[in-house]
Amino acid sequence: MKIIIINGPNLNLLGTREPDVYGNQTFENYLKALQLKYNTVQLDYFQSNIEGRLIDKIQEVGFSYDGIILNAAAYTHTSIGIADAVKAITTPVIEVHISNTFAREEYRQHSFLSANVKGIIIGFGMKSYELALQSLL
Ligand code: DQA
Repeated sequence: MKIIIINGPNLNLLGTREPDVYGNQTFENYLKALQLKYNTVQLDYFQSNIEGRLIDKIQEVGFSYDGIILNAAAYTHTSIGIADAVKAITTPVIEVHISNTFAREEYRQHSFLSANVKGIIIGFGMKSYELALQSLL
């Protein structure tokens, strides 16, 4: 089984970025633990701060992988391009957010992606990624 986590802008700063909102753990450390726990799964990872690179990656994996766990971060609220890419592919996508976006600023409460994904997991901290993985398994 091949699953990829795709993280969008500023998520490379997890661990140091707004720890009160996103916690203290780096994504690299979290990912290592997840890969060990689910070692029968090929769990890949891609992060970019650039919208087009995220679209390229979604297109690249979107017809051969078994699942995409996508935290498009701020692009969730702005990107019709990423929403169209999610709609264009055949691999199921789970939209994930670390924080509860509905408890934050109003502009975080709309997602261009949600209508095109299989499911959404929001607000469980880093655990959101594991819950998304379990849903795909
Ligand atoms: C986020 C929520 C977004 O609103 C924000 O822009 C992020 C992270 C989350 O995981 O909680 O960068 O997607």
